[in-house]
Amino acid sequence: MTATIPTTTTEAATTAATVEIDDTRTYAAARERSSVLDALIDEHAAEDPARFRMLTGDRPTGPLHIGHYLASLRNRVRLQDKGVETFVVIADYQVITDRDSVGEMGANVQGLVLDYLAAGLDPARTTIFTHSAVPALNQLMLPFLSLVTDAELRRNPTVKDELALSAGRPLSGLLPTYPVHQAADILFCHSRIVPVGRDQLPHLEQTRAIARRFNSRYAAGHSVFPEPEALLSDVPLLLGTDGTKMSKSKGNVVNLGDTADETAARIRAARTDSERRITYDPGARPAVANLLTIAGLFLDESCESVAERVGDGGARALKDVVTEAVNESLAGHRGRRADLARDPAYLTSVLHEGNARANEVAERTLATVRAVMGMSY
Ligand code: TRP
Repeated sequence: MTATIPTTTTEAATTAATVEIDDTRTYAAARERSSVLDALIDEHAAEDPARFRMLTGDRPTGPLHIGHYLASLRNRVRLQDKGVETFVVIADYQVITDRDSVGEMGANVQGLVLDYLAAGLDPARTTIFTHSAVPALNQLMLPFLSLVTDAELRRNPTVKDELALSAGRPLSGLLPTYPVHQAADILFCHSRIVPVGRDQLPHLEQTRAIARRFNSRYAAGHSVFPEPEALLSDVPLLLGTDGTKMSKSKGNVVNLGDTADETAARIRAARTDSERRITYDPGARPAVANLLTIAGLFLDESCESVAERVGDGGARALKDVVTEAVNESLAGHRGRRADLARDPAYLTSVLHEGNARANEVAERTLATVRAVMGMSY
């Protein structure tokens, strides 16, 4: 990928508290390790696919948008096509960690499957499954919970943020424990590689700790669970069209399933600035830089080069370039998505098959766990 990668703007905004310095250091190390992993995958995935078995997933809370596509979907397909054994969890139980209702669960799950398939995930090679259909995976959460402390759970940054935001509102027991459930997602299939965003790194550290502790406490040091590694995307954090974090509730995103016209309208309404000449300057002109980044990623072109092309055309011309880049790049995806949407029985069969495969794997793992814990009766 040749698009320029600015250090993310939110990174610059973080204050100098010790925790955040640590976080920056952890992040830098994880980035470095990720490029090594990428090289190893290139070299060995084809001959030894199990070595890089990968699991990642999404919460079915709504439609996927171009940020998901650029930062994760494309990458999953790339890894799958390199021969990596791929598992994708549709994390339906994770939806109810922090909300009162399950929402349009069925439609959201179907939407995810549509985007996965349209993007090129191949159900013959990639196991697509939902939490709720794999009891043995969920059962792993019990022994795993015994391996973590409550203090550790409360230190998890996501959990901490939610606790801080709760303002005394009661929080469910699933909230502080969901990172352990996520560990079960990752470990049930012995995955080695977990492509995630920066915010998920603490969950991965927790998962690694659970794997280590399980092996030493319950398995006499045998490696029942290998410690998985994060694979960070090199795509910078993308902002919504209003210059703030992409979020479907803010209506500042372009969804993969949107039409070309909806896309054009959304981008036309995007925030820019009053300077006519378009330049790539993420520090001083974050909104313009964000649009240039989106165009650059879709066109596989550097942000500077897109800026140069637009030049004195101003915001209007920039938006035309972005709209065209998005619509042309996604035309195939959207066409396939629409075709697949006409065949709900097929989507159901993909999930049934993925769930069946995930169940087989999870039952095998749970049998081992029971055996090493002396619980095979
Ligand atoms: N927590 C992830 C998110 O909010 C989704 C997820 C669930 C996941 N289980 C996972 C990601 C396992 C990676 C691995 O996006």
